Amino acid sequence: MRRYGLYVDGQWTPAGSGKTFEVYNPATGDVVGEVADASKEDVLRAVDAAHRAFPGWAAKTAKERSEILRRAYDLMVANLDELAVIMTTEQGKPLAEAKGEIQYAADFVLWYSEEAKRVYGETIPASFPHKRILVLRQPVGVVAAITPWNFPAAMITRKIAPALAAGCTVIVKPAKQTPLTACRLVEIFEEAGMPPGVVNLITGSRAAEIADTMLADERVRKITFTGSTEVGKQLMRKAADTVKHISLELGGHAPFLVFEDADIDAAAREVAASKFRNAGQTCVCTNRVYVHESIAEPFAEALAKRAASMKVGNGLEEGVVIGPLIDRQAAEKVEEHVRDAVQKGARVVTGGHRLSRAGTKGEVHFFEPTVLLDVSDDMLVLYEETFGPVAPVQTFRDDEEAVRKANDTRYGLAAYLFTRDLSRAVRVAESLEYGIVGINDGLPSVAQAPFGGFKESGLGREGGRHGIEEFLEIKYVSLALV
Ligand code: SIN
Repeated sequence: MRRYGLYVDGQWTPAGSGKTFEVYNPATGDVVGEVADASKEDVLRAVDAAHRAFPGWAAKTAKERSEILRRAYDLMVANLDELAVIMTTEQGKPLAEAKGEIQYAADFVLWYSEEAKRVYGETIPASFPHKRILVLRQPVGVVAAITPWNFPAAMITRKIAPALAAGCTVIVKPAKQTPLTACRLVEIFEEAGMPPGVVNLITGSRAAEIADTMLADERVRKITFTGSTEVGKQLMRKAADTVKHISLELGGHAPFLVFEDADIDAAAREVAASKFRNAGQTCVCTNRVYVHESIAEPFAEALAKRAASMKVGNGLEEGVVIGPLIDRQAAEKVEEHVRDAVQKGARVVTGGHRLSRAGTKGEVHFFEPTVLLDVSDDMLVLYEETFGPVAPVQTFRDDEEAVRKANDTRYGLAAYLFTRDLSRAVRVAESLEYGIVGINDGLPSVAQAPFGGFKESGLGREGGRHGIEEFLEIKYVSLALV
């Protein structure tokens, strides 16, 4: 049982109201933590602290900021096992996946500890002999980072590591389901030597009140958010009032195209890796599988064989690869998608059932890894993000049809394709209206590459050298020699 307050101005303090809320293990229903439940006044305290700390942090040399981030990376790696257990306990993902996520999260901190030193300016040839044109890149100011429950560590570091490297101060608001990993991470940043006020943490069960307070405050210059497209649109509208910078990493509806020349088993392996990671609760995970009609049956069988061999259960248990869904609402959505598909004629090749049972506090919800065949366009699974372990498989006749189907969505985060034909791979990758394309690769996410979506999947990029640009203003200085 872990207990945490809010972390504001370098101090752990209770919420002003004294309120707290409980954190549950989605695999057992047990209470595993209790954290402070912030209200508007607490958020304003955090904004005050971040605003006060900003000039000092921005004025540090890039080398000084880099060294603190590097220490945070070392501490994350040294505490990897403990962080992973906390994550599995509050989020449910299998321990091996949680360890993978902590390393992935730490990689952003390492990458940006290095990138901090490469925020270069420019000089531009002037139009007059006595003038000089300089371009400076400066931190945007106070950043509010609102993060989701599906990746409780990586979505935080992917936002705050570049912000801190650029010289911004931050307020982190983790999801109410998974605040414990965030609290432990913030302790690590504190231990690494972050000065008071540079990193602040606000936990709370009233997400809208917290977000609205940050959005209304003109001292907050940037909002960076990962979550649903619907919430992202609301944040974007509200950010307009104070013309904040905004980065949005929103929903996805990833297609995976499997062409007739594919190695069927290797393709099934990559589809399974992409689809069933985090029990399908991933914005980039495959949501629709399009397979050439000549290989649909053997491919579906190969995928079903892999799915059926996946052990479902508590992520802390040996051998479990599919953990619980985060809550009842998530389980009901997955169940509705499968029911709707079956009613409209889909065939369940494997899985198809919700495995709910009583936990110590309410129910806990698991869902069998599922493969559906004979899927048609009018089924929910083909036009809504399922966010669960369900792989609907549809066929296509030629490349043109495959690309048309893949692009027929308002989303544009990640897309995947499997083929041995290099020219086809390049042509198809170029035609896909997506921010991320995996060719023969179901797991493309890495710290050094730009992550983000086209269309309603978001704005801006996280990760890599592009990720730090989101936290920098460009200043043009015109200098006349006298
Ligand atoms: C997400 O689901 O938003 C993040 C997945 C990733 O970083 O690979």
